[in-house]
Amino acid sequence: MWGGRFDGGPAAVMREINASIAVDKRLWREDIAASKAHAAMLGRQGILSGEEAATIDAGLDQVAAEYADGKLVEDPALEDIHMHVEHRLTELIGPVAGKLHTARSRNDQVATDFRLFVRAAIDQALAGIDALEEALLNRAEQNVGTVMPGFTHLQSGQPVTLGHHLMAYFAMLGRDRSRFADARVRMNESPLGSAALAGTGFDLDRASVAAELGFDRPSANSLDAVSDRDFVVDYLHAAALTSVHLSRLAEEIILWASPMFGFVKLPDAWSTGSSIMPNKRNPDAAELVRGQSAGIIANLVSLLVLLKGLPLAYSKDLQEDKPPLFAAHDHLTLGLAAMAGMIADLIFVPDKMRAAAAAGHATATDLADWLAGEAGVPFREAHHIAGSAVAAAEASGKALDQLSLSELQAIDPRIAEAALPRLSVEASVASRTSAGGTAPIRVAEAIAAARAARRSRA
Ligand code: ARG
Repeated sequence: MWGGRFDGGPAAVMREINASIAVDKRLWREDIAASKAHAAMLGRQGILSGEEAATIDAGLDQVAAEYADGKLVEDPALEDIHMHVEHRLTELIGPVAGKLHTARSRNDQVATDFRLFVRAAIDQALAGIDALEEALLNRAEQNVGTVMPGFTHLQSGQPVTLGHHLMAYFAMLGRDRSRFADARVRMNESPLGSAALAGTGFDLDRASVAAELGFDRPSANSLDAVSDRDFVVDYLHAAALTSVHLSRLAEEIILWASPMFGFVKLPDAWSTGSSIMPNKRNPDAAELVRGQSAGIIANLVSLLVLLKGLPLAYSKDLQEDKPPLFAAHDHLTLGLAAMAGMIADLIFVPDKMRAAAAAGHATATDLADWLAGEAGVPFREAHHIAGSAVAAAEASGKALDQLSLSELQAIDPRIAEAALPRLSVEASVASRTSAGGTAPIRVAEAIAAARAARRSRA
């Protein structure tokens, strides 16, 4: 298709390194949609006759029907999906197919196809995030008052509620959603009509093509349009950070499912056994989500490095933009679905969580807070007194909340009877009523607000 000035064909290895069809065949739907919009516009503008445009349109429909049937025949000599479609179109409708490429280049063509693909990938990511958010909300709602340890340094710090913990991931996903949505707004421009790099002398109606393909407007600068892959980076950045969030959640599930924690049981649907150790029930899906985030982060880095040394405008390096994007999209789609499924199906073990929350004198802060809030003791001093109480509990082999009033008053006489009920884990979480805190009433409000926001978005 470009051989006019060439006498010899490419070397076998040249053909092999040049061919991208094995990867970019995934763009066939986008390629045909963009070609149909371009041909129709050429017809409207009188650049092609109405009959020529109609013949090309019908031919493209036929190619699409064949490809939908799995009849795309890969030929490395035809390099990429754009040449495959045009070649098949030529076989079907004859030389008039050659008019489709009027006022177009593969450079603006691939930029357009890829934008259409990434836009759809963003929409799928948003749907996947939505499903995981729903699962988190449902489980949070069931566990507004379920007490578990809250950790710092992976050591039990203060009791929290499971609902609050799950809603922390809901908050992360809300930011992920907004990054994808933001990327979608920014990328929704049509490169078609930029041609190879300089634009074209044909009297195009770029705005109508943009509108037909669901873009908000034509791109502003032809050089930028054919070489810009910022939209891929935006997608990959949003995907990488989402995958980091999924990986953190996966890590929690892995820890919680370990018999040493025992906070959750993995249902059969989300575990695998060991081929040698009959006792094992492994959290493989969570481990794979955690592991696959490495690849998604690498995909982002690939694109950034690919772009950083490229002069304007198109260079063939840009053909290497697709494998990282496709890989990230596939892994993110699976990861979101796996996490939504696991969260929905996890069997929580509240007794284990509560016991762990109560261990380690986790309500020592509550004793200090009571002294500071109710007995007028400066917090620094209150902290010291509560520390002495922990030491006394440890010395007598008891939990802090098992010390008697007289034992506590021996440490500091300002500790009154009213302090005692504050030392249970339930009282502790109930007292954390600051906005955004773990108190069940605050968590219930957060869930209600999230539900309302989701309803207004729908
Ligand atoms: N297969 C190419 C890609 O994905 C299409 C653009 C080719 N353009 C060119 N001038 N060789 O980037």
